Amino acid sequence: MRIGVLTSGGDCPGLNAVIRSVVHRATVDHGDEVIGFQDGWKGLLECDYRKLDLDAVSGILALGGTILGSTRVRPEHLRDGVERAKGHVAELGLDAVIAIGGEGTLKAARLLSDAGLPIVGVPKTIDNDIASTDVTFGFDTAVGVATEALDRLKTTAESHQRVLIVEVMGRHTGWIALHSGMAAGAHAIVVPERPFDIEELARTVGERFEAGKKFAIVVVAEGAKPREGTMDYEAGGKDVYGHERFAGIAHHLSVELERRLGKEARAVILGHVQRGGTPTAYDRVLATRFGWHAVEAVHRGEFGTITALRGTDIGLVPLSAAVERLKTVPAERYAEAECVL
Ligand code: F6P
Repeated sequence: MRIGVLTSGGDCPGLNAVIRSVVHRATVDHGDEVIGFQDGWKGLLECDYRKLDLDAVSGILALGGTILGSTRVRPEHLRDGVERAKGHVAELGLDAVIAIGGEGTLKAARLLSDAGLPIVGVPKTIDNDIASTDVTFGFDTAVGVATEALDRLKTTAESHQRVLIVEVMGRHTGWIALHSGMAAGAHAIVVPERPFDIEELARTVGERFEAGKKFAIVVVAEGAKPREGTMDYEAGGKDVYGHERFAGIAHHLSVELERRLGKEARAVILGHVQRGGTPTAYDRVLATRFGWHAVEAVHRGEFGTITALRGTDIGLVPLSAAVERLKTVPAERYAEAECVL
C-alpha cells in the first residue's frame, strides 16, 4: 500500500511519535510505502510531499512539534480544493491518507472523506476536548508544563504576597486549567464551561487572605468568560480561520481582583510554552499506539474513522461522530476540584 500522512492545526507534543509509529508499522510490518505531506492540508492541496522511511523518522520519538510542519487552512479554501486533493491522491497512487489533528483538522478530514477520499484520522490536541476519545495525546504534557509553572509561581507569589492569575490554554474547555489547578493546589480555577462572577471570585480569594494566607494562585483558561452582566469583557473577534480571538482574560482578572482586594495582582500567560518541547512518556505511548492502530485501520479499509482511546483500549470511531461535539468539563468533575481549592 501507499499511505500519505499529514499533521494539521496547532502543533502538539506527540505528533512526531505518531508519524514514527505509522512509518514503522506500515513499512516494517506491512511493506508499505509512506509519504509525508508538508504543512498539513496545504501539502496535500499543493502536492508538496516527501518520502518517509525509517531513516526519516529516526530519533524523532521524543521531539516536540512536527517534522512535517503544520498550518491552518481556511475551511472555504479546503472546500474549493476538494477536487484538487482527490486528483493528487490519485496521481500519487495513495491508498489512504492518515490525518493527524484536532477539531478543525478532523472536520476537514470529514469533508474530504465524504467526498470519497480514503482517510483515517488521529486526534490530537493539548486541550483534550475531542469527545470521542477519553484522552488526546499532548494533554498530559501540557498539564505537566502548566503544573510545573504553577508550582514555581507559588513560591514567588508567596514571597511577594501577591495574587497571581495564571492563564493556560483552553479555547472552549477548561481541561488544562482543571487538571493543572488540581495538581498544583491552585486556590481558584476558572473554566469556560462555568462563566464566572467576579464578585464571587474576589470573595473566594479574599477569604483566603482573611484566613491568614499571604498569597493566592488563580488558574484561568484562556476561553473563560464572565457571567453575563457581571463584568465588562469584550472578546477579540474572530481570526481568518473562524477562531475566536482572546482578549487576555488574565489581565482583566488581575485588574479587577487588585481593585477589589487591595492586594497586588499579576497576570502570567503560559501560552505556547504548553505546546512546545518533548512529550511525556504517557503522550509518547498514546501517540505511538494511535499511529499503530491508524495503519491497521487503513489495512482493514476502515476509512472515515479516527482512532480513539476508550478506557485502556484503542478503537475506531466514525469521523462524523468525532466532530459532533466537544468534550467539556462536566459539573461533577469541577465539583471534585472545587472541594480542594
Ligand atoms: O487548539 C489548541 C490550542 O492550544 C488552543 O488552546 C489555543 O487557543 C490555540 O491552540 C492557539 O493556537 P495558535 O496560537 O497556534 O493559533
